Amino acid sequence: MSEKEIIMAVETSCDETAVAVLENGQKLLSNLVSSQIKIHQKFGGVVPEIASRHHLEQVNRLIELALKEADVTFQQLSAIAVTYGPGLVGALLVGVSTAKALAYSLNLPLVGVNHIEGHIYANWLVHGNIEFPLVCLIVSGGHTALVEMRGHGDYLLLGQTQDDAAGEAFDKVARAMGLDYPGGPLVDVLSHEGDGKAVKLPRSWMGKDSCDFSFSGLKTSVLNYLNKAAQKGEKVNKADLAASFQESVVEVLVEKTIKAVKKRGLKTVLMAGGVSANSLLRERMKGRCQEEQINLYYPPLEYCTDNAAMISKAAHYHYIKGERSGWDLNAISRLKLY
Ligand code: KG4
Ligand code: ZN
Repeated sequence: MSEKEIIMAVETSCDETAVAVLENGQKLLSNLVSSQIKIHQKFGGVVPEIASRHHLEQVNRLIELALKEADVTFQQLSAIAVTYGPGLVGALLVGVSTAKALAYSLNLPLVGVNHIEGHIYANWLVHGNIEFPLVCLIVSGGHTALVEMRGHGDYLLLGQTQDDAAGEAFDKVARAMGLDYPGGPLVDVLSHEGDGKAVKLPRSWMGKDSCDFSFSGLKTSVLNYLNKAAQKGEKVNKADLAASFQESVVEVLVEKTIKAVKKRGLKTVLMAGGVSANSLLRERMKGRCQEEQINLYYPPLEYCTDNAAMISKAAHYHYIKGERSGWDLNAISRLKLY
């Protein structure tokens, strides 16, 4: 083992096999992602069995490549980190088994990381001094929540979605409009050509001071709009519909976040998860935070969606606190963070 802290992280929770190597919690020596998106696209979504098989085919190759690119040997590693949930259990198991086997045979500590925590820590990959306490808007394919962070690893749930996650709503609406999987980025691009006020769609506020979310009503409104147009034989302007849907999601996400920060008397907002890549969300959140003199952080696009760099960064904070996982670490598909 070298004097440097070198953590290798493995991420296989969904449809991206990823491996990263992080030196001293700061320097990313390598960060590789092998995406299966093209494979799942023809099915309109991720097929769990196929995802597991592809992780199995890719993971060892990616580990070797990541170490080679980092110019690091197995013997120089300080710890092996791995995502152990939430996610697809079969997919997670590939990463967890690989990481456990490596850590055991190399006599290295094992650090299990929550995938959502990884998304949050994508911010620390690029932003130096993020001041606590803060409010974090988690907007991913599987989760949508507002969480207060008082320090590293300290989470207080303020509110969460009661039905669909924001990313899930993007993907389902995109699918109904005939767009490919994952639909979020495609709705984002298509929206640039549309008018966000063209189609009147609902906003779900869930009560005056609620930090909870609901996107299923909005999704149903879009489906009804498409069905009615089909019945009448009318052509739908997809760009207008995409822009109007996006407008509704973003307005609710932004206003609820601002309200939550003010209610908690805080001054900092963090965004995390795949939907934080959304161009309108980034623009609107930036504008509202400037107006309210709130500090805003969000990851660069490359770290918004799944990667292992974010897992290595979250693992670093566990590692320096002496937190280790046991050999009984298992994949937990509904692993909780808050
Ligand atoms: O955070 P993530 O990896 O999901 C989970 O960990 O659960 O992000 C994937 C989600 C997908 O639903 C995808 O459609 C959405 O993020 N997404 C976007 C954009 N880029 C990715 N949604 C809206 N606009 C985007 N630009
Ligand atoms: Zn993710």
